[in-house]
Amino acid sequence: MRALVCKAWGSPAESLEIQTVPEPAPAWGQVVVRMMASPVNPSDLLTIQNKYGRQPSLPFVPGFEGVGRVLSGKGPLAWRVMGRRVAVIAADGGAWAEQCLIPAIRAIPIPDSIPDDQAASFFVNPATAWAIARNVLRLGPLDLVVQSAAAGAVGQMIHGLSKYLGFGVIHVVRRNEQAESLMKLGARDIVVGEGENLARQIKDLIGPRTCQYGLDAIGGETGAAILKSLSRHGVLISYGRLSGQPIPVEPGTLMDGMKRIQGFWLSEWMKDQNKLTLWRLFGRLAKLMAAGIIKTPTGPSYPITQFAEAMNQASLAGKSGKVLLRFD
Ligand SMILES: NC(=O)c1ccc[n+]([C@@H]2O[C@H](COP(=O)([O-])OP(=O)(O)OC[C@H]3O[C@@H](n4cnc5c(N)ncnc54)[C@H](OP(=O)(O)O)[C@@H]3O)[C@@H](O)[C@H]2O)c1
Repeated sequence: MRALVCKAWGSPAESLEIQTVPEPAPAWGQVVVRMMASPVNPSDLLTIQNKYGRQPSLPFVPGFEGVGRVLSGKGPLAWRVMGRRVAVIAADGGAWAEQCLIPAIRAIPIPDSIPDDQAASFFVNPATAWAIARNVLRLGPLDLVVQSAAAGAVGQMIHGLSKYLGFGVIHVVRRNEQAESLMKLGARDIVVGEGENLARQIKDLIGPRTCQYGLDAIGGETGAAILKSLSRHGVLISYGRLSGQPIPVEPGTLMDGMKRIQGFWLSEWMKDQNKLTLWRLFGRLAKLMAAGIIKTPTGPSYPITQFAEAMNQASLAGKSGKVLLRFD
């Protein structure tokens, strides 16, 4: 079978090559999935650049998720999904290949009402948005949140969940076009900005309201501005590092109002959950996706032979949506 293999750390377009590798064989409790499509997420790009939190050793096949059809497997959990279209959760990577070997429990059957381009991004971003909103912060109608990277995939999912769960959101973006696209989705409170004046702009929009929660995927000055703008006992959830910069925090910012910063990483969070909670989460995400409450903004798709174009497109500022690799 063909696989996209990362042979050296560096630029995603230059570090990958298509190789013919042996087809995987399932052991007990595993399935082999014939892959249809897989998204290019920031975590994939960071892993290829040797900048992610946990790194595989070279050479390796990237890709933490996707959609495909179960080809073979062993054990009752595998028989349950044989031949079915499933979302693939490849926690150790390996989804950017024509066939992907995963534990059968990580092959999630997907209802026909969810199209392939949504099913391909079934887990990483939707589970992050849901787990932060519901399991970590328990957001409800009385809460107000300020989030950065608001026009991205996770950001739009938080927006969708805000309508579903009733909490308010102040969206922070860096470009006017992003504000316009969020307004088309029904968002009202939007700050366009970066750098020094950002905290003041956010505070002005919060006004007399209490805003205790911040969600930040950027880091650097943006993360610091969100932390500063939070009300007493504010909590900043740091879940990404798109700027590549540390969050500069004056101790006084934390002391004044007794604020804190808390990290969130889906793979770490999953370690603390039991199987029942995860099963419930998979079912809930399927329902939210089928109802269009959680939706991945779709971008262009490329066959794996055009992986360099796919990597370049996914790395662009201002890209139109999630880039997909196709294995047809
Ligand atoms: N902790 C976890 O478990 C977890 C799980 C899932 C995702 N994540 C993280 O969540 C973040 C968002 O993922 P995604 O799939 O939603 O990404 P995405 O769809 O690519 O969206 C990223 C958004 O951030 C903006 N952005 C990028 N760099 C920026 C910067 N330096 N300053 C301001 N805005 C910037 C982009 O705007 P432009 O169009 O202007 O570039 C875009 O709107 C990533 O950091 C990802 O690693 C973390």
